[in-house]
Amino acid sequence: MTGIIEVSHLVKKFGDYAAVNDVSFEVAKGEVFGLLGPNGAGKSTTIKMLTTLLSPTSGQASVDGFDIVHQTTAVRHSLGYVPQALSADGNLTGYENLLIFAKLYDLPRTVRNARVNEVLSFVGLTDAGQQLVRHYSGGMIRRLEVAQALLHQPHVLFLDEPTVGLDPIARQAIWEHLMDLREESNMTIFLTTHSMEEADSLCTRIGIMHRGQIAAMGTPAELKAAVGGENVTLNDVFVHFAGDALESGGTYRDASRARRTARRLG
Ligand SMILES: Nc1ncnc2c1ncn2[C@@H]1O[C@H](COP(=O)(O)OP(=O)(O)OP(=O)(O)O)[C@@H](O)[C@H]1O
Ligand SMILES: [Mg+2]
Repeated sequence: MTGIIEVSHLVKKFGDYAAVNDVSFEVAKGEVFGLLGPNGAGKSTTIKMLTTLLSPTSGQASVDGFDIVHQTTAVRHSLGYVPQALSADGNLTGYENLLIFAKLYDLPRTVRNARVNEVLSFVGLTDAGQQLVRHYSGGMIRRLEVAQALLHQPHVLFLDEPTVGLDPIARQAIWEHLMDLREESNMTIFLTTHSMEEADSLCTRIGIMHRGQIAAMGTPAELKAAVGGENVTLNDVFVHFAGDALESGGTYRDASRARRTARRLG
């Protein structure tokens, strides 16, 4: 297959530490690909390289046929990105936040307002559009960020823990919207999540990342079959391939950081 995302021997070192350590995989157009793994596994670092925010130490990757190192502008036009940390500006309204990005993405002036209103309505924020984002709940901010990532109708959408801190109804609403959109436009979705249930029900294929490497890759059914036994869940798969993460030390800091983030978002 020729993937809409192709990753070959990708490495990212911070000093001597290889946060992403020789990772290769492909994602086909229209897939919902989930990258799972313990805190500190290297998921966000992988996404930051694929979205051109970090440059790789070595290796290659392409998104939508464009090289992530040599064709950064084209790559950025092809993708939408919802970062792990909340990023919307609290001193602006939802509408104003989106308008800034509409300009940044070079949406023609004549369609800007219509498109901003369209994505606001898509994520159910039409009524809240004129309120300052600092009065939004965590879930509303997250929905605004999804809207922002969709403004320029990207071919590939990267979502780094998009549903952390969202209540079950907001969570389901976001996924229903995104799955509809994927069906309409054949958009490819690349996500990370710590919810095995979410990954199991949404992802066409899953990669399990552990200590900077891909420990396992396949459809949810294939991964469960690889672990074997009766009534195997994706949780069992995760523990099987990455269960020694907390014993290895060094990830406690990441775990407590994740808890703090979750509290802040909640
Ligand atoms: N800018 C940086 N400088 C130094 N080390 C970093 C930097 N960014 C990430 N790391 C380290 O790289 C490793 C991988 O981090 P990364 O954020 O990719 O993990 P993750 O899989 O996204 O984890 P989480 O589930 O907690 O979000 C961690 O050990 C982290 O501390
Ligand atoms: Mg992360």
